Amino acid sequence: MDYSEHNVVAVIMVGGPTKGTRFRPVSFNTPKPLFPLAGQPMVHHPISACKRIPNLAQIFLIGFYEEREFALYVSSISNELKVPVRYLKEDKPHGSAGGIYYFRDMIMEDSPSHIFLLNCDVCCNFPLPDMLEAHKRYGGMGTMLVIKVSAESAHQFGELVADPVTNELLHYTEKPETFVSDLINCGVYVFTPEIFTAIQDVSTHREDRANLRRVSSFEALQSATSRSLPTDFVRLDQDILSPLAGKKQLYTYETMDFWEQIKTPGMSLKCSALYLAQFRLTSPHLLAAGDGTKSAMITGDVYVHPSAKVHPTAKIGPNVSISANVRVGAGVRLISCIILDDVEIKENAVVIHSIVGWKSSIGKWSRVQASPAEGDYNAKLGITILGEAVTVEDEVVVINSIVLPNKTLNVSVQEEIIL
Ligand code: GDD
Repeated sequence: MDYSEHNVVAVIMVGGPTKGTRFRPVSFNTPKPLFPLAGQPMVHHPISACKRIPNLAQIFLIGFYEEREFALYVSSISNELKVPVRYLKEDKPHGSAGGIYYFRDMIMEDSPSHIFLLNCDVCCNFPLPDMLEAHKRYGGMGTMLVIKVSAESAHQFGELVADPVTNELLHYTEKPETFVSDLINCGVYVFTPEIFTAIQDVSTHREDRANLRRVSSFEALQSATSRSLPTDFVRLDQDILSPLAGKKQLYTYETMDFWEQIKTPGMSLKCSALYLAQFRLTSPHLLAAGDGTKSAMITGDVYVHPSAKVHPTAKIGPNVSISANVRVGAGVRLISCIILDDVEIKENAVVIHSIVGWKSSIGKWSRVQASPAEGDYNAKLGITILGEAVTVEDEVVVINSIVLPNKTLNVSVQEEIIL
């Protein structure tokens, strides 16, 4: 096929409201991909990385959230980046590969020679131009970003074996029960348009099977295996990567830099820190500064939205991200936290290792804090989370707890989930 060698498009899979449930309660009102990390929506980080791809024609976000939830963000980011960013809504989930197939005509509109495909819930420095170069050298249909992780954590991801010389993907298993490899799939890929044929083949094969079952009335014997999935629901990992491994079509590009998956609010704190640290190198102007004289004392990497008002006697950082219209009173201490829009933190309150939801209010001399168990950011209560519009009254202490939206706390709590 003759595709223009120039155009490249990027697709970011954003999922939908039935996914990302581990992200509650902070995903009740805001789609997880728009939750701020380092003061920018989660999906903003892969989008701005796409901007570095040469000849980038368009960026598509594919998901099954309502269009209006992304409309504002998509129009503002398109203007800012000067690259069209479009949100495409699936009528139902089609799986991580079925989703791009569903919108193949729009994705191929600019006749791209290459298509990047990115999960929205991964945090890394997205080395996209380097991946593209490597992909062209390998000459396959697809190249995936991979990383070595600890053997104990590998089972949470797609585990794989690659040829150490050619980097060919030799074997792939999605979240295996028994250990295969500490090399894992980062959820960042570049493909040639042949990927659409590979997805089509999976659907056709499934359709043939379904017809066969019907005529041979085997259906009753079939359990809920991939064969009984709807024909248009195609998973990139199990249905494409596993069967095509070892066939000289898929290759790997290993990153030695940071990489994390963002499934829980605790991980969003860790990833916020990683992105803030990256701003030191890429966009230092986004980081706050201050020595406590005219403006608050800032230590380490901190983001403060320009509309937020922080009292000069407050002490902020490291790893703090303060969103729009937040008011931080005198003598407040903030360490390792994400403070969402319209929050008020009154005099001498302390917030450590917590997420404070939109429009919440923290009273004078109160403490909202947590300590992650041995740095385990995935632990349910290793972080304190206040949902939207929670009021913590004066002198109340909230430790390692999750508070659902619209609650008022007038007594101290520890290790509790307040429903
Ligand atoms: N639009 C759309 N439609 N997006 C989807 C759908 C769908 O039907 N299903 C999943 N996604 C999106 C999710 O929002 C996420 O960004 C990405 O596709 C992958 O989600 P999952 O299929 O739930 O997989 P996972 O996140 O548990 O694991 C995948 O990513 C890991 C890296 O983070 C796998 O590919 C693993 O192998 C990999 O290690």
